[in-house]
Amino acid sequence: MSEVARIILDGVEYELPVITGSENEKAIDISKLRGMSGYITLDPGFKNTGSTKSAITFLDGEKGILRYRGYPIEQLAEKASFIEVAYLLIYGELPNKTELDYFTNSVSNHTLVHEDMKRFFAAYPNNAHPMGMLSAMIASLSTFYPESQNPNRPFKDIELTMHRVIAKLPTLAAQAYKFSMGHPIMYPNNDLNYTENFLNMMFALPTDDYEIDPVVEDALNKLLILHADHEQNCSAATVRIVGSSQANLYSAISAGIAALWGPLHGGANQAVIEMLQMIKDDGSDLQKWVDKAKDKQDSFRLMGFGHRVYKNFDPRAKIIKKAADDVLDKLGIDDPVLDLAKQLEKVALQDEYFIERGLYPNVDFYSGIIYRALGIPTEMFTVMFAIGRLPGWIAQWKEMVENSEPIGRPRQVYVGATERNYKPLDER
Ligand code: CMC
Repeated sequence: MSEVARIILDGVEYELPVITGSENEKAIDISKLRGMSGYITLDPGFKNTGSTKSAITFLDGEKGILRYRGYPIEQLAEKASFIEVAYLLIYGELPNKTELDYFTNSVSNHTLVHEDMKRFFAAYPNNAHPMGMLSAMIASLSTFYPESQNPNRPFKDIELTMHRVIAKLPTLAAQAYKFSMGHPIMYPNNDLNYTENFLNMMFALPTDDYEIDPVVEDALNKLLILHADHEQNCSAATVRIVGSSQANLYSAISAGIAALWGPLHGGANQAVIEMLQMIKDDGSDLQKWVDKAKDKQDSFRLMGFGHRVYKNFDPRAKIIKKAADDVLDKLGIDDPVLDLAKQLEKVALQDEYFIERGLYPNVDFYSGIIYRALGIPTEMFTVMFAIGRLPGWIAQWKEMVENSEPIGRPRQVYVGATERNYKPLDER
């Protein structure tokens, strides 16, 4: 007999089916509970609520496991290219040579963005945050491809839209940077691979030759892979919920970028470096800042520490910490901010408050240090995260469409005023 959960409400017992995932994860299916009993469940922040069945990414926060389509993140970060991982996430399998060539060529063929989009960039203030520009630019792409707005078109059309987004996001990201610098934009070079092309659009100038350092390219490839998906996080859940209304893919990705921007999610990588810089400028008294982070009356938190699902360690942080050391070593960079980060990690990890709550450095604690070493400006850090996370968002959106998931529409427990009568202005 299949497993069931029993719940007693107002003296009546209800049976709810238990769902078991392929890694033996258990869930109580409450989807019919309200119809049966009139009750809903309440779980702010969805801390204990599964919103979907997904076959894309598995993670075990207690054991520090992260796998894309079954492949351990350690193997992918070590051996794969980002574009291969993008294919794996979206299509479900690692590509063979023909499939990889098809995907790579298709993405390369769509890297240009319409010249009219330059006029949007021209209208932003010089100090506009690139995440704001990127989110708006991706939403704006939908206006250039009106035929792509219906997500129920044949797969070939949907596939073209997915390839277009992957191709154009790095172009738009690099253009946002060039506009903020007042530099001429560099057009994509389709002879370069995905990561090389991005570096070239960011750092080449018409006046200078720019040679891509293989150490830099390798580190970027690794970082993008580590960020490529993370199951139902805030931005992926946003992409799925926006897409569930059958809004087009560009709008769903634009919303995902907006969700990622916040400092509790992808914006943490920028916030970590700003925090470390602030601690350094304040005299590097680490204990003072650790104490502030522990003080419940103080809103300060140690950025780059803690995670909703990882309570022992973040496997991505492990890989990235080593990569940060390697990159700085190979590029001969001595970064006092990295030294400070290491000292802070030590102080916090010995502190009872952080131990008790399972607060460890997360992926963003070290990614900013690498981005700095690669010459990427601080405000672009979250943009880098967005480029990495894009295949994950697309895979999540595609899975949601293919599963014909219903529109996302949570319920609530209303705690406001009960019925009362309108009073004219002079009686209030
Ligand atoms: N510094 C100090 N205290 C913290 C921190 C922190 N960084 N993170 C959590 N806590 C405390 C929190 O105050 C709470 O304490 P108590 O139980 O006494 O009330 C306890 O730890 C649990 O925290 P929570 O806020 O209930 O946990 P959550 O799962 O809702 O939040 C988090 C997870 C990542 C938003 C949070 O740890 C945080 O704000 N971290 C800093 C921001 C950050 O680095 N974000 C990047 C996450 S990794 C990239 C990504 O995947 O998005």
